[in-house]
Amino acid sequence: MKKITIAIDGFSSTGKSTVAKQLAKALGYVYVDSGAMYRAITLYAMQNDIISKDHFDIEKLINDLDSLKISFKYNDVLGFAEMYLNGVNVEHDIRTLEVSQWVSQVAEISEVRRMLVLQQQIMGKEKGVVMDGRDIGTVVFPDAELKFFMTASADTRAKRRYKELLERNESVSYVDVLKNVESRDLIDSTREDSPLMKAEDAIEIDNSNLSLEAQFEQLYALAREAIEKK
Ligand code: CDP
Ligand code: CDP
Repeated sequence: MKKITIAIDGFSSTGKSTVAKQLAKALGYVYVDSGAMYRAITLYAMQNDIISKDHFDIEKLINDLDSLKISFKYNDVLGFAEMYLNGVNVEHDIRTLEVSQWVSQVAEISEVRRMLVLQQQIMGKEKGVVMDGRDIGTVVFPDAELKFFMTASADTRAKRRYKELLERNESVSYVDVLKNVESRDLIDSTREDSPLMKAEDAIEIDNSNLSLEAQFEQLYALAREAIEKK
């Protein structure tokens, strides 16, 4: 059966990565979490005094980009690929609220986007890929056969992310998580380079009131249909 490319874009904590992983597993496709790549560069900047409390040395980050090695390595036990930065597993460290508080500023930088988009296009060139992010259906794979745009209310999304951070034993407040979700929504959708927007041919899914199972069933049926049409 012919393989297709599935692009999943949308706001933070709309369940993109959860459903993308489920779809990839069910279809035997590769899952790529493009947000993890922006998060890894942000972590690098935080670990190397490029970003500190009130300072962001954008020029230094741009200068360092060529020397950064960002890669995914499949973990058989977890059943998905984990993020590595310069050979070190950073899958856990890239998901903190602190990284979330800087990542949208890093993702605004065109040099960063150019580098990551190229890597993403290489990863998906054989098709058979499910990639989630903000610009996958609009910039990375504008010709993807199937595109989804996920939404849910800000309150629903912040509650989901807050629960996740508590489960990771991060001491965060709900208000800070909500603020972060709202500020990333704003920066991501108003930036000049590749803003978050629904591709014209994307199917919009509001999952505020959809369970994970119902959401998967809906997207899986659409994926089967698109593959059969191919
Ligand atoms: O999981 P969550 O939706 O919170 O975020 P993510 O997918 O890990 O992405 C983190 C951030 O990276 C986003 O808020 C965007 O600023 C940026 N990003 C982007 O600009 N383009 C992408 N294709 C993916 C992520
Ligand atoms: O990748 P993205 O940031 O869009 O979201 P995610 O990491 O897949 O999902 C964020 C959290 O929301 C996870 O804990 C999901 O289990 C939860 N979620 C949910 O409870 N119901 C949904 N319909 C979608 C996501």
